[in-house]
Amino acid sequence: MRTQVAIIGGGPSGLLLAQLLHKEGVDTIVLERRTKEHVLSRIRAGVLEQGLVDMMRAAGTAERLDREGFKHDGTVLSFNDEIVRIDLAKHAGRPVTVYGQTEVTADLYAARESWGGETLFEVDDVELKGLDSDAPYVTFRHDGQDKRIDCDFIAGCDGFHGVSRKSIPENVRTEYEKVYPFGWLGILSETPPANHELIYANSSRGFALCSMRNAHLSRYYVQCELSDKVENWSDEAFWDELRRRIPQEVAETLVTGPSIEKSIAPLRSFVSEPMRWGRLFLCGDAAHIVPPTGAKGLNSAASDVYYLHQGLTRYYNDKDNEGIDRYSEKALARVWKVERFSWWMTSLLHRFPDQNPFDLKMQQAEIAFLQENEAAQHALANNYVGLPY
Ligand code: APR
Ligand code: PHB
Repeated sequence: MRTQVAIIGGGPSGLLLAQLLHKEGVDTIVLERRTKEHVLSRIRAGVLEQGLVDMMRAAGTAERLDREGFKHDGTVLSFNDEIVRIDLAKHAGRPVTVYGQTEVTADLYAARESWGGETLFEVDDVELKGLDSDAPYVTFRHDGQDKRIDCDFIAGCDGFHGVSRKSIPENVRTEYEKVYPFGWLGILSETPPANHELIYANSSRGFALCSMRNAHLSRYYVQCELSDKVENWSDEAFWDELRRRIPQEVAETLVTGPSIEKSIAPLRSFVSEPMRWGRLFLCGDAAHIVPPTGAKGLNSAASDVYYLHQGLTRYYNDKDNEGIDRYSEKALARVWKVERFSWWMTSLLHRFPDQNPFDLKMQQAEIAFLQENEAAQHALANNYVGLPY
């Protein structure tokens, strides 16, 4: 088999890149380790920056997003019962859109299938070869056969546990990591959202988040011990804990119900440099991870896709290498600013096991400063809605 760009990973990064390249006449094949059903069963965050919405429109895949997505002009931080609303429209001039990442991925798959884009599912033993040559190729097993795809470039969109990042020699890679001493216990419930905007709550008992998917489907999280287990948490125990962490006026009107999904996720900050080696480009979670506090996982993958799609399009359509040659530099410049914001939001809103009274006072002072200072709210708003590409 041969293609122009082999894309490893059929998650949102890989599919969005494939769709944008298709629009420019660039041929791709997507290799995905799991089944499409498994990929679409993953529950992920649902806050989209305008840049991602614009790319979905450019990709011709935003019809349902535009119809069903919820525009949010504000978001709320709380510190016990103190509430700070960050006016995104006033400070940043654009909203965020609440729309499940699973729906983004489903819309991208529907588009790829509509024009017959080639996606191979349940591929095994993917290996990237010839990355430092001008004839890279991918070998893998599929349908019980050993197969090979020759290509011009490989986009490693295979997430944190994929093969692409590790295909860059260790002596070329520099990795940066911070693992947080807690996790997030999340549930999905068929209940109306607690509030019309998201609430990020810092309480004496730890962090909580009130989010949503639509008017009838809510997503909630509470900070939990890393050693905690989902089976330790009944729905009732979850709701009781959530009520104790969010502002009382919200807790009093909280509508609870049975969880339809319940899971615990660890939190980490991670970046691997460079994001290009020879004919391989890393994109999304394959290159970087953020704690979910700033809702930046998918949105930081989207800016990688923006730079890589632009670079590859210039290469094929204008015979201009500058975009791909500067890809890693440009993508990392934005990734590090997003890492900083996600780390800052996580540090501000969570209770740390080794936190002393001074540390707590620093969190309280930061929240008080946010409450009274327009410039502080402006900075948070502009990071939350998404820095320019
Ligand atoms: N070969 C083929 N596919 C692979 C391999 C492999 N060796 N390893 C992993 N994959 C697939 C995974 O099954 C997954 O579907 O690559 C895909 C990677 O998708 P994501 O992990 O969703 O990463 P990405 O597309 O970069 O999206 C980033 O999604 O996971 C969230 O929090 C993340 O919001 C962020 C966004
Ligand atoms: C979610 O809706 O799952 C969500 C929203 C915002 C975040 C994290 C998760 O910061």
